[in-house]
Amino acid sequence: MADPVIDEIKQRVDIADLVGSRVALKKAGRTLKGLCPFHDEKTPSFVVYPDQGSYHCFGCGKSGDAFTWLQETEHLDFGEALRQLAQRAGVDLPERRRDPQATEKRQRLLAALNEAAAFYHRQLLEARTPEAQAARKYVQSRGLTAATVERFGLGYAPDRWDVLLKHLRQRRHAPELAVEAGLLREGERDGSRYDLFRGRLLFPIRDAGGAVIGFGGRILGEGQPKYLNSPQTPLFDKSTVLYGLDQARQAIRREEQVIIVEGYTDAVIAHQHGYTNVVAALGTALTAQQVRQLRRYSQNLVLALDADSAGQAATLRGLDVMHEALASGTVPGIQGEVRVATLPSGRDPDDVIRADPQQWETLIEQAKPFVEFAIDAAVAGADLSNAREKSAVASRVLPLIRAVGDPIARAPYVAMLAERLGVDEQTVQAAMAASRRRTPRRSTRRDEPPPPGEAGASVLLEQPRAGSPEALEKLERHCLIALLSAPDLLADLVYRPTAADFRRPEYREIYRAVVQATTRTPDSVQPAAGKLTDAAIRAMLDESLRPHFDKLVEHIAKSPPTTSSQRQADLIQVTLRLREEALKEMQRRVQAQLAAAQQPDDLTELLQRQVELHNDLNRVQLARSRPPLYTAAPA
Ligand code: UTP
Ligand code: MN
Repeated sequence: MADPVIDEIKQRVDIADLVGSRVALKKAGRTLKGLCPFHDEKTPSFVVYPDQGSYHCFGCGKSGDAFTWLQETEHLDFGEALRQLAQRAGVDLPERRRDPQATEKRQRLLAALNEAAAFYHRQLLEARTPEAQAARKYVQSRGLTAATVERFGLGYAPDRWDVLLKHLRQRRHAPELAVEAGLLREGERDGSRYDLFRGRLLFPIRDAGGAVIGFGGRILGEGQPKYLNSPQTPLFDKSTVLYGLDQARQAIRREEQVIIVEGYTDAVIAHQHGYTNVVAALGTALTAQQVRQLRRYSQNLVLALDADSAGQAATLRGLDVMHEALASGTVPGIQGEVRVATLPSGRDPDDVIRADPQQWETLIEQAKPFVEFAIDAAVAGADLSNAREKSAVASRVLPLIRAVGDPIARAPYVAMLAERLGVDEQTVQAAMAASRRRTPRRSTRRDEPPPPGEAGASVLLEQPRAGSPEALEKLERHCLIALLSAPDLLADLVYRPTAADFRRPEYREIYRAVVQATTRTPDSVQPAAGKLTDAAIRAMLDESLRPHFDKLVEHIAKSPPTTSSQRQADLIQVTLRLREEALKEMQRRVQAQLAAAQQPDDLTELLQRQVELHNDLNRVQLARSRPPLYTAAPA
């Protein structure tokens, strides 16, 4: 069931070599040691296990394999890491098994879109008609250079009903297909077909890989609608696409920051001026999917949005989404920063950059952390002499402040809100505590650890044994099946697995996708949140993983039906077992380190770690064994 190709890659890639290209490693018995790249330290506690193809840091707890290594240090997504490692290992990746019919359809839609883009591009560059000349003039008047027109493949759609229709027919693209691709429209009464884009400057919209999937068309000069966009098609979904991402992704990684603007021209002009880490969200509030996509490239997001009120409202809605996506950092090691740059009133990034690039840089540098921005925005419109409004502001902003997980990072915002509202900090704290009742905190303290004395003596003797790889693999699979059968329950689990608990890369990725898909977004943005579908999870997966995912879903479909309480019980048991195995694995590692430790400092740290692990394990085992109330033994 597990992927043999992934196994082969893992076996063939030399992890010491891979990690060694970034971290200076020193041999220590069968392992290698170095300074941890994931946290600051002066004495090495980062260990590489060549035999297992894995690494583990005893200081910060980070662990993983060749896949997570590339994903985290190079910010690659799973598919990219897979391809790089395959190449490194000299393993051929099998052609993706896809539904051949769907693949062919997709190819034909893409071909029609590509043909249309090339056609429109030539119209803009070469057509001798007066209207094409006017279009070129318009491009010039917007300050767009020939190089930019080229790089973004801008085009012009002549103001007629059938130029594209005829061209596509000539090139043997089926008209029905062009309708499905959103290029042609079909008359409702007679079914006659005609060009959708007429008399417009066209911005081809590409997916992250650079394939044209739709268009945005701007009217030359005044008129309505200012922009006409491709309709929703099998390839084009406005809520997931980010304009310019194909051009920006390298720079986003390199600069470890992505700037999000509202408009096509904003993005294009930014790139033209060398700000190539800019993408546009197509004028809508950012969606959770868009944020997720961007987070694959960088965790640092800056929103540069127009100052007008609609823009700000959109910003705030977008922020909720983004914040949820970031704050729910259940994926270990992921921290993100979201900042907001407010543009001077009446101007957008396009205006600012063309007038004064320096001002643009300053605006981005001075972007406010989003919680601060949200506080200011909420306070700005409110009459604070009115007590009701004051408390409305507080209830608008408090959930955002509360979601800042780290109390130390949170403190300045509490102070800030108190200051703006003219109340003292305790009042804000109290309000926050009161509003917490709605969303009960997940308690991990229910099972108190045993007193330290009790733990200390035995842990040194106990020699945990490794579960067989097959058994672990089955367990991980079982865990995913349980989760996919009841994804809504994930958020309520007391002992949630971490992605690193999954040792098989393909299962780990699927788990990550489930976590992301079940991340709750505020109702205002996604009324249907919680009712997530397998399709949403599937869409987030790299294609190489979809067959695995499909098998899991198939398995569930074929299994006999279960009640919701059975599903819940199963999920709790299996996730606890997975945690237990992960903790045991860490114990084994600590023990191996202990055996090799020489420095007294190392020894103290490892012993302490060992006691912690022992306590954690006790808690998990206790939770597993605690019998349901109704079977309690009679007194
Ligand atoms: P703006 O009106 O700010 O567009 O809308 P802009 O890019 O600055 O346009 P110019 O500078 O006047 O040419 C921002 C974005 O909202 C979407 C487009 O994606 C646009 O780039 N939009 C706007 C539409 O989809 N339709 C519209 O009618 C207007
Ligand atoms: Mn503009």
